[in-house]
Amino acid sequence: MTPTPQADEDTFAFIIHPIDIKRDVQRKYPFLGRVLSEGQISFFSRFWPPVYLSEVTGITSASTGRTVRGWLISVPYTPPTMISLPPEEVYRKIVAAGLKAEGLGARILGLGAFTSVVGDGGITVAQRLKLPVTTGDSYTITVAVQALREAGEMMGKPLHNATVAVVGATGAIGKTCAEILARDAGELILVGRREDALHAVKERCKGRAKVSISTRINSIYAADLVLTVTSAVHEIIEPQHLKPGAVVCDVARPRDVSKLVAAQRDDVLVIEGGMVEVPGPVDFGFNFGFPPGKAYACMAETIALALEGRYEDYTIGKDISVAQADEIGEIATRHGFKLAGFRSFEKPVSEQHIAEVRERAAINIKHWRPAY
Ligand SMILES: NC(=O)c1ccc[n+]([C@@H]2O[C@H](COP(=O)([O-])OP(=O)(O)OC[C@H]3O[C@@H](n4cnc5c(N)ncnc54)[C@H](OP(=O)(O)O)[C@@H]3O)[C@@H](O)[C@H]2O)c1
Repeated sequence: MTPTPQADEDTFAFIIHPIDIKRDVQRKYPFLGRVLSEGQISFFSRFWPPVYLSEVTGITSASTGRTVRGWLISVPYTPPTMISLPPEEVYRKIVAAGLKAEGLGARILGLGAFTSVVGDGGITVAQRLKLPVTTGDSYTITVAVQALREAGEMMGKPLHNATVAVVGATGAIGKTCAEILARDAGELILVGRREDALHAVKERCKGRAKVSISTRINSIYAADLVLTVTSAVHEIIEPQHLKPGAVVCDVARPRDVSKLVAAQRDDVLVIEGGMVEVPGPVDFGFNFGFPPGKAYACMAETIALALEGRYEDYTIGKDISVAQADEIGEIATRHGFKLAGFRSFEKPVSEQHIAEVRERAAINIKHWRPAY
C-alpha cells in the first residue's frame, strides 16, 4: 500500500467512475468485466464500495519545482445509475470515497465527471467531509473555451467573426462558458431545455455578441462553433444538426456528439474538450483512457490547487463565476498545465486532418441545406 504522506506533503485524491461500463470495469477487473453483462455490473455496482485504483506520482510544478502525490478512487456507478438513483444514495457513495481519500492522507478531493453533476454539485459532499472539495468545473470552463477558440482559428473561424452555440447553456459549466464567449463572439445562441432559465443566462451575457436563445437542438445548424456540455446520458447531436465546416467542442462525459457524426461527416471537426497536459513526469498508475501525461481539466484543477497549497472548497455548487474560471486558469498555467493537442472520438487530431476537413467543408458548403 501507498506510504503515509508527511504532514507538509502536498496531496490530492480524485474520484472517477465508469462511463462505458464493460470497457471501464475491465480496466480494473479484467475477468469480471468480460464475463458479466452490463445489467449485472450495474446491479452489483450499487452494493460495491468505492475502489482504490492507483497512486499518482511525478507531478512537478513548473514554477516552484514542488511535487504533489495523489490517488485515484472509483465510485462504481455509471451516469445513468447516478441520474436514476435518489441523490442521497449517490452522495453516500461519494462521501465513502471521500473518507477513503482522507484515510490515504489526501488534502483535497476532486469530483470527476458525473460525481460533480449529481444533486447540488458537491455542496452536500463538502459539508460531510473534513477535507476540502472541488468539482474541477472552473478549469474545465477555461480549457473548453480555449480549445473552442483555438480549434476555430485553425478552421478559419475566429471567435469574433463566428456564430457560436452553447448547448446545455443552463448548466453549471455551460452558463459560465456562455458568459465568457459573449465577451468576444460575433453571435451567441444559447441552447437549453428551459426557456426561463435560458433568459436568465442571457441576462448574464454581456459583451459584443448578439445573444439569442433556443430550446431546439436544430438551432445549432446556424453555428460555426459549438460548445456542448449537457448532462444527457445519451448522444444529442446528430450528423444533420451541423453545417459543413462546423467546429464542435464536446465537453460532456458521456459525450453529447453521436458517433455517427464521426462516421458520416468528414466536413466537420469534433474535438473533445478538457484534455490537459500535466507538468512533470506523471505516472497515473491507471489507464483512464487518455494518452500518457494527460488529464481531464477537472482533475488538473484539483492537482493545481494542491500545487498552490489552496486547501479549501474551491468550485462547488452550480454557480461558477467568470473570475474564478480566470483565477484557476492563471494558477494552472503558472504551474505548467496547458491545453494538450486536440482529440476526436479518442484519436489524436493532426493539422493535416484539420486541413482536409476545411477543404471538404469549402466544397460541401456550396450545396449545403439545413435538414430542417
Ligand atoms: N471534460 C471534463 O473535464 C468535464 C469536467 C466536469 C464535467 N464534465 C461533464 O460536463 C457535463 C455537464 O456538467 P455540469 O456540471 O455543467 O452539469 P449540470 O449543471 O447538471 O448541467 C447540465 C446541463 O445539461 C442539460 N441537460 C441535461 N439533460 C439533457 C438532455 N437530455 N438534453 C439536453 N440537455 C440536457 C441541463 O438542462 P436543464 O438545465 O434543463 O436541466 C443543463 O443545462 C457532464 O457531462 C459532465 O460529466 C466534463
